[in-house]
Amino acid sequence: MALSSFGYFTLQSDKLADWEEYGTKFLGLQLAEKTSSQLKFRMDDRKQRIVVSSEPEAATAFGWEVEDTAALDDLAARLEAAKTTVSPMSAALLARRAVAGGITFADPACNLLEAFYRPEISSEPFQAGREISGFRTGVMGMGHAVLLVERLDDVQWFYQDVLGFRISDFVLEPFKAFFFHLNPRHHSLALIEGSQPGIHHIMMELNNLDDVGQGYDIAMSTPDQVSASLGRHTNDFMTSFYARTPESFFVEYGWGGRIIDPEAWEPHELKHGPSLWGHDRPWAPAHELAERRRFRARAAEEGLRIPVQVTQDNASFGVNNCAWWETTKKA
Ligand SMILES: [Fe+2]
Repeated sequence: MALSSFGYFTLQSDKLADWEEYGTKFLGLQLAEKTSSQLKFRMDDRKQRIVVSSEPEAATAFGWEVEDTAALDDLAARLEAAKTTVSPMSAALLARRAVAGGITFADPACNLLEAFYRPEISSEPFQAGREISGFRTGVMGMGHAVLLVERLDDVQWFYQDVLGFRISDFVLEPFKAFFFHLNPRHHSLALIEGSQPGIHHIMMELNNLDDVGQGYDIAMSTPDQVSASLGRHTNDFMTSFYARTPESFFVEYGWGGRIIDPEAWEPHELKHGPSLWGHDRPWAPAHELAERRRFRARAAEEGLRIPVQVTQDNASFGVNNCAWWETTKKA
């Protein structure tokens, strides 16, 4: 597999003051560097993960990591075979991205993509913008990206056949969406068929549920910032909410995503809609809101429940000392 993870996100925006506040005080990112035209945010040991720039040459692009220069060359050859224009990053762009090597290209829907290897690691420890326990990154990358596309058939082949994404699962109703993995994160990318193409959201995963809950309180204190209420997804089991950003896309802020074995994974259709509970969007068109609520009501009626996905660091196990319940369970 050529790509290994979602490595960075760069955004062209004039709203630097808004992003500084949003990135640090709400998301808990570290503002690593600030100039009059650029903000660089850290979320782990890397020198930068999210860059917001108002410079004319800045691009809104997704950075996909590859292992090394051989993997990058292999990817470039496959892109060229698929008649995709590939540009090597200039020395100036490599310096801006803080990577050893990289290429730029676009998907068939004209989303700008970059592939890179060997990102710079900071010599300073990560210092969160607010008191959070930190972001879950490492081999799973910085999170996931979700794109809206007009027609899945026009774009999906590119991500699967050329870039090497593998299907995790897919939803055919109440809307059409495909979820793709590169590593043990259930999905690093999703494509949703929709009428307004572009970025739908970027997901970042926190190490502790309380990081998300406290973020929810912060978002709830700003009118209209929460775009989907706290809820839990049926496929990656993420407990999360969605918040509006200073742009037209959202951030999904979550905890407790499942880990998959990419080698053994079998793709399948999801029959219960996107959420076990929650993720309500009262502002959505009435028919869409009703349909989503109907799916969740069915999940609840069927008693659909999934154990929380904890790690050693964020969980301690209690003892169920309720005798009558233990008897009931064994019966
Ligand atoms: Fe998501």
